[in-house]
Amino acid sequence: MAKVEASAPGKCILFGEHAVVFGQPAVAVAIEQRITVSLELLEEGADEWRIDGMKLIPSKHPHVEALRSRLWQKKAGAPALSIHINGDVPPASGLGSSAALSVAASACLRAARGRWLSEGGEATETKDWAEGFSSQLTDTDVYSKVDEGKDPARRVGANGQGSSHVWGEQAIDVDECALLGHAVEAIAQGGRASPMDSSVCAHGGIVLLSDEVEKGTDWVYTRTLNIPEGDRTWQVHTIPVMTDEQDVYLVIGNSGVHAPTSIQVAKVAAAMSENPQRMREIETIGLIARRGVEALLKGDYEAVGRAMSENHLMLRGLGVSCLELDDLVRAAAPSSLGAKLTGAGGGGCMVALTRNPKQTSEAIELAGGRTLISKIGNAGVRIESHEGLPFWKPSSK
Ligand code: PMV
Repeated sequence: MAKVEASAPGKCILFGEHAVVFGQPAVAVAIEQRITVSLELLEEGADEWRIDGMKLIPSKHPHVEALRSRLWQKKAGAPALSIHINGDVPPASGLGSSAALSVAASACLRAARGRWLSEGGEATETKDWAEGFSSQLTDTDVYSKVDEGKDPARRVGANGQGSSHVWGEQAIDVDECALLGHAVEAIAQGGRASPMDSSVCAHGGIVLLSDEVEKGTDWVYTRTLNIPEGDRTWQVHTIPVMTDEQDVYLVIGNSGVHAPTSIQVAKVAAAMSENPQRMREIETIGLIARRGVEALLKGDYEAVGRAMSENHLMLRGLGVSCLELDDLVRAAAPSSLGAKLTGAGGGGCMVALTRNPKQTSEAIELAGGRTLISKIGNAGVRIESHEGLPFWKPSSK
């Protein structure tokens, strides 16, 4: 049977949600919980994609549809596939389930399609690619509308002539998965998405996003996106994970209250335009995030926890917490180093940093939350298994 399976982690925001919309730094970590995507080649002659056993309806699955139009075009000869999605990242709760799905699905499609390289080229060198997307290539524009008559993954110019073909793990480029993940998130969210979720779900570990290059961390790339309000630019960095000798855990508490991110973001935007003085609060969240980053770099988790709790107070002041989240944060406090809401707020999840995960988890559950426990900084996207690759070999010319 021809089959490929890839997984990517969910994420949680440690510092800087909402303030990041105004250009302040924000930090997200990959959690242990993952989304697994598997693709199977359908029997010959099958024409319609299937998802979890049902016919795939593009409008219901905008992420899959946007990836399919970039990497798996029927017009270019790509065969129909069956896709299965599993995992333990709860959907629509601010834990990055849609980004993890997009990143894992792009890894599956690339592994199954393979990649044409120029003659004697290396899969790890983007300059040798005859096809593909990467932030290291200046002509990559995965957000713009796909021209149905043209294979968008095919490159033009000197490196646009395919002569050797690689597939499976060899064909995977994590930056490409992150870039495609960001593009399809933007499409599914009406043109607006930061690269936070897609970067952390692809690269794993800890990711810092800012509108400037932040000293003391490892800068990885600049990401730009044309959103309805104009061009936006983000600097994406990674922070080394210093937890080897430290027994620290994240306990995530889900309030079960549903609050759409767009409403929460609009609420903060309205507060800022009503009273521009309040931009100080946004700047203070930025300062707290920078302090949190310094503490993370030193492996000083007591200070990381303090910064998280301060961040929560600022978010409360902005009006993006709610009674349920405050209850869970309060319940976690006695047994943890720090706790805060994570993500857009108004509902969704909170996160506590703790050396006593069992105790903290029980306290949060007693206060009405459903919990997940995770170590800090987990592996990014990876291929779990494959057989019968490639599913399809696009023509080399
Ligand atoms: O709840 P999430 O994971 O979608 O996080 C939203 C984070 C915000 O800063 C509130 C919005 C954003 O686009 O960064």
